[in-house]
Amino acid sequence: MKIVRLIEEDFGPLDREENTFTGDEVLDVLFIDGEIRLATRSVEQFTKIYGQDHSQDDDVEAYGAFLNGTLAGKIELAPAWNDLGSIEQIVVAREFRQRGIATELINFAKSWALGKQLKGLRLETQTNNVAACKLYFQNGFEVGGFDRLTYRTQPQVSNETALYLYWFPI
Ligand SMILES: CC(C)(COP(=O)(O)OP(=O)(O)OC[C@H]1O[C@@H](n2cnc3c(N)ncnc32)[C@H](O)[C@@H]1OP(=O)(O)O)[C@@H](O)C(=O)NCCC(=O)NCCS
Repeated sequence: MKIVRLIEEDFGPLDREENTFTGDEVLDVLFIDGEIRLATRSVEQFTKIYGQDHSQDDDVEAYGAFLNGTLAGKIELAPAWNDLGSIEQIVVAREFRQRGIATELINFAKSWALGKQLKGLRLETQTNNVAACKLYFQNGFEVGGFDRLTYRTQPQVSNETALYLYWFPI
């Protein structure tokens, strides 16, 4: 697999029909003795479709994971004001999932951040994206906080809870 910088602005299916997942679990956030804990709960199967982010940010760098010449996944990275690298987006096309591609993209992000003298990584996900949360926890991310109101103004997802995750090198 090769990871290379992408310069296009439209990544086709990865920004649209592939940027989706089906789940049957969500995470409940518990705040106990000053610690955030997450508990998995089964729910009726649902499909989440991530909307395209049309905001332009000159600082965002997109990198693609290519398998035999096919764009299988991508990650978007940007430096943040607090000396952390921000994972703005990560997506793997459905036919290529669960083969370690996102893990490789996250390892790439860690090297990218350290190469820029940044002090770690941060990202925002949601408590209904259990697969993504597992991916991040398996790769050393920890929960910084959660926010029940981030999505309040977005009718399709107004009931979602944002989860803020961080990775710091040891
Ligand atoms: C989340 C996503 C990027 C994972 O990509 P991937 O290449 O399949 O991930 P990997 O193969 O590297 O998986 C690494 C770990 O993530 C977790 N994981 C990945 N897919 C999972 C799934 N469907 N269910 C449960 N855990 C899963 C597992 O812990 C896995 O480790 P394991 O293989 O030892 O069990 C991919 O499912 C995706 O593109 N989803 C839609 C977009 C999205 O949700 N992006 C994240 C937004 S915050």
